[in-house]
Amino acid sequence: MNRYLITLYVLLMVATVNGRQLADDLIRLPSEKLGSSDDDSVGTRWAILIAGSNGYWNYRHQADVCHAYQILKTGGVKEENIVVFMYDDIAYNWQNPRKGAIINSPDGDDVYHGVPKDYTGNDVNVDNFFAVLLGDKTKVKGGSGKVVDSGPNDRIFIYYTDHGGPGVLGMPTYPYLYANDLIEVLKKKHASGTYKSLVFYLEACEAGSIFEGLLPEGLNIYATTASGPDESSWGTYCPGEYPSPPLEYDTCLGDLYSVAWMEDCDVHNLRTETVKQQYKLVKERTSNENSYYGSHVMQYGDMPLSKDSLYTYMGTNPANENFTFVEENSLSPSPKAVNQRDADLLHFWHKYRKAPEGSDMKTEAQKKFVEAMSHRMHIDSSIQLIGKVLFGMEKGPEVLNTVRSGGKPVVDDWSCLKTFVRTFETHCGSLSQYGMKHMRSIANLCNAGVTNEQMADASSQACTTFPSNPWSSLSNGFTA
Ligand SMILES: *[C@@H]1O[C@H](CO)[C@@H](O)[C@H](O)[C@H]1NC(C)=O
Repeated sequence: MNRYLITLYVLLMVATVNGRQLADDLIRLPSEKLGSSDDDSVGTRWAILIAGSNGYWNYRHQADVCHAYQILKTGGVKEENIVVFMYDDIAYNWQNPRKGAIINSPDGDDVYHGVPKDYTGNDVNVDNFFAVLLGDKTKVKGGSGKVVDSGPNDRIFIYYTDHGGPGVLGMPTYPYLYANDLIEVLKKKHASGTYKSLVFYLEACEAGSIFEGLLPEGLNIYATTASGPDESSWGTYCPGEYPSPPLEYDTCLGDLYSVAWMEDCDVHNLRTETVKQQYKLVKERTSNENSYYGSHVMQYGDMPLSKDSLYTYMGTNPANENFTFVEENSLSPSPKAVNQRDADLLHFWHKYRKAPEGSDMKTEAQKKFVEAMSHRMHIDSSIQLIGKVLFGMEKGPEVLNTVRSGGKPVVDDWSCLKTFVRTFETHCGSLSQYGMKHMRSIANLCNAGVTNEQMADASSQACTTFPSNPWSSLSNGFTA
């Protein structure tokens, strides 16, 4: 061990005894200065890790979050400062071939062990996420009660992985999370003066739409997203793709952007790598050589923060002490990827294919596949029809498919969007996970000045019935 690390170790011990303020004064790394002048003074590191889905076909989101937890934990971030949201229906799921274990890559080790179960099941919800981030113990319902009780010198890292759509992120519970509500909470957190800087990593389809035109500069927040505002993000290590999970797995093990940043963290001394350097590597890997099976990683907010070392937010694994960052992509070549929105279909399809001919399992898998497909077709055609009812055969599709340019948010009037979603679901059944993709079309109706009465009329004309399958059930609605 070098002399420098021993000094640091001693300082850390002293700092731990004397509390946060002292740590802030003492932990200076003059020899390892990176970027802006004050990023080597670290208060307490806090993290919120959220897997926003449930269901075995969404295995990958909880695998991502468990992996992220292991990175922070071995990096030295204390368990009491890491708040984990995961539904926790994967490790002991009857379909999981390795009971009690979760892996995030084909030959990866178990990442589930030791992950704290702060918020599981129905406690994984928007209200709890916001209360936790705001450090408001009184508003938290259920769960461990752990919140981000941060002070002015502290650093916060948020990692969220799930399905999403324009302006919206999923949760395993309803309602889903709307971008404007998230931005309001971030502003509130900033106004409370309880952090020095915050880094947000977001994996979801259309993830850029959560911040584009919405996250202002000056909040000391830097965010990167798996995809731009109008493109899918990608699942990876999926069955039948390369590299594929072990044969006994019929679900994707990870997400492309997520494994890109985490596999980078796994092998580096994070004191020597900046947030920006990681952004560049992850962007390159996630673009998948600009192929169709890739997306454009974006950055938002206060760019100067990207000069901070990753260590500022994640700590670093002592075992990687000698693996300093080098400006070349040491990551494995981009794996083949599957559109996040199709990962569930792929799962049902593989189950169907693998089940023995004539078995109950085969019938069940076929039923699941057909249900998911019929829900999709119903949602797609209902939205198309509503557009046509409101704007005519030609103009309808045009209005629905408009993508606003110039850094504008998906919608100006968020309460209109929320109302229209409710109206749609009342007449047409739940949008559910898949239906999030139509948020832009619904937002465009608001942007075009459609009234709620017109929306209700059009919805009732378009949807005289809705299919009776679990996906369409209103208990799976945004508005439930
Ligand atoms: C890093 O390299 C130094 C010098 O070769 C060595 O003493 C030390 O044990 C190495 N650290 C780790 C964690 O392997």
